[in-house]
Amino acid sequence: MAAPLRKVALVGGSGHLGPYILKALQADSAFDVTVVSRQSSTANFPPNTNVVKVSDVYTKDKILDVFKGHNAVVLSLNFAAEFQHHNMLVDASVEAGVKRLIPFIWGGRIDLLEAQKFFPIAASKASLLDYVRSKVGSAPGWANGLFHDLSFANLRRRPDRTVYISSFETSMNEILAAYKSATGVSGWKVAHDSVDQGIKITQETNKTSQEFMDKMRAIGLLGLLVGVKKGLGGDFAAEGLSDIELLELPRSDVTETITQLLKG
Ligand SMILES: NC(=O)c1ccc[n+]([C@@H]2O[C@H](COP(=O)([O-])OP(=O)(O)OC[C@H]3O[C@@H](n4cnc5c(N)ncnc54)[C@H](OP(=O)(O)O)[C@@H]3O)[C@@H](O)[C@H]2O)c1
Repeated sequence: MAAPLRKVALVGGSGHLGPYILKALQADSAFDVTVVSRQSSTANFPPNTNVVKVSDVYTKDKILDVFKGHNAVVLSLNFAAEFQHHNMLVDASVEAGVKRLIPFIWGGRIDLLEAQKFFPIAASKASLLDYVRSKVGSAPGWANGLFHDLSFANLRRRPDRTVYISSFETSMNEILAAYKSATGVSGWKVAHDSVDQGIKITQETNKTSQEFMDKMRAIGLLGLLVGVKKGLGGDFAAEGLSDIELLELPRSDVTETITQLLKG
């Protein structure tokens, strides 16, 4: 039996995803968590959280020092920062003797060439995973599809591969219906287009727009469209990949999730 992963270092325990990972780890007394946070960070953590402050540029010496004695490292940095510091964080994990590294996937089927072709972020994330593979021979990680509610769960059952988590499978029409029902707002102007046409338009906006926010909106919408396009691996259950049962995670549905989201 594999040795227990007691000491876990979480790099990026704040922001959007980090607090969910931290909460799940802290809820399980099997884990002893260290959060690695930047010196300039104004993030707040729950009382009694062990927080180690590091330089904003994440110097390797300091990171190596922090990782030593930890059994697992979970990476959940800001999207731009993850690309900047990823390889160093992987190297430091290996050099510190960390047994389990959960790298930056936090998305969908980034391994599919077809998905990479449609969604540039998938290709970039795949290159990060290739680096992990080149260093440790395998590439464990968490593929959760889109974070409709940023849910996160149990890290203890840990097959030596990517685990696929999907609380529900959905479509753009279902998402729209769920928003309508949750907001109770009527008078929506709805224009129907095919998913393929939507992908074409958002790819074009992403390529040609000079405005940063327009590009970001296009990338966000592209991620949503790629997630629901058939053949791009977004439906883990249909492909028989879902690890929901293995992880004993509850199922949910899109209406319930969006209603909860809108309630805050
Ligand atoms: N599947 C999806 O739908 C989806 C959606 C969003 C994100 N993601 C993925 O989830 C992971 C985490 O993303 P996130 O949205 O949670 O990240 P985030 O909130 O933007 O940032 C997470 C943490 O990174 C640290 N950080 C380091 N350098 C930073 C910088 N230059 N600017 C801002 N923060 C910096 C901060 O922690 P400290 O302040 O404590 O240092 C911050 O709280 C990423 O791998 C991302 O690609 C997936």
